[in-house]
Amino acid sequence: MNTGSLDTKVVIVTGGAMGIGGSTARRLAGEGARVLIADYIEDAAQANAERIRTAGGEAEALLIDVSKAEDIERMVGHALDRFGALHILVNNVWGSKEPDGSAEDLTESGWDYAMEVGLKSIFRAAKHAVPHIRASGGGSIVNIASVHGLLMAPGKLAYETVKSAVIGMTKQMACDFGPDGIRVNAICPGHIVTERGQAHREKNPGLHDLFVAQYPVRRTGVPDDIANAIRFLVSEEASFITGHTLVVDGGLTIQLQENLGVAQAKYLRDHPDIDLP
Ligand SMILES: NC(=O)c1ccc[n+]([C@@H]2O[C@H](COP(=O)([O-])OP(=O)(O)OC[C@H]3O[C@@H](n4cnc5c(N)ncnc54)[C@H](O)[C@@H]3O)[C@@H](O)[C@H]2O)c1
Repeated sequence: MNTGSLDTKVVIVTGGAMGIGGSTARRLAGEGARVLIADYIEDAAQANAERIRTAGGEAEALLIDVSKAEDIERMVGHALDRFGALHILVNNVWGSKEPDGSAEDLTESGWDYAMEVGLKSIFRAAKHAVPHIRASGGGSIVNIASVHGLLMAPGKLAYETVKSAVIGMTKQMACDFGPDGIRVNAICPGHIVTERGQAHREKNPGLHDLFVAQYPVRRTGVPDDIANAIRFLVSEEASFITGHTLVVDGGLTIQLQENLGVAQAKYLRDHPDIDLP
């Protein structure tokens, strides 16, 4: 029997097949939580659930697309049918079907899809999950934003808008649901090398080294860095923390931008072989 700090808690992790969500599902299951992995890549979601069960945890995979209202409702219903309660929701998915851009370049459909996947899914998940988290005795929601929700990069209107709004929505939901014993927090990851990111890193190691040089801790992140932060935020140890945005970025965003720019220019001068995108 697992006697971890999340023993008997029921958790939904959207995008829980791989990357940050995959690691989070494993981390929370390792603390005794019963985890529903809700993802639109079925074999990867099943494989992660199987990996958790093999390690002695409890997990199930469910095929959903967070951009579809009916799938979000089905996801919450499935967690209740399967585990009989709901305590924790981790809203982790981002996705795009078209390139991001400035307001001039971004298409109407690109904007709409980004809002549907990145924002409306969180609204819908809360709408359906909150009554059941309340009925289960309270719990917590964690929304995954980004350092891009704090500092803007040119030509990324959809992503920066979504991630900024996730931070605002988190504070609003924390106000609305705090009295019900439901805490709502956000996390802003810096650059996290996921399974997908690893392939990119191997293709262009020089560019990755340039990223590393920009981090005060001199490394980029791994999915477990974010999973550990989520584990803390959903635990009793964080019971007085709500509406908070926890920046988990190795110090990237504490730096004065103009000094960082000069440091990057020097780095590139000393490493002229780097293949810039
Ligand atoms: N990796 C980073 O450097 C980084 C940095 C800052 C923020 N983030 C944020 O962290 C979150 C996770 O990112 P990641 O890098 O782990 O992503 P990832 O691409 O490695 O994994 C995303 C998961 O979500 C699933 N998914 C995508 N669209 C879906 C949909 N419509 N319905 C259901 N499942 C869907 C994918 O199948 C995959 O399992 C995102 O919100 C991202 O914006 C990531």
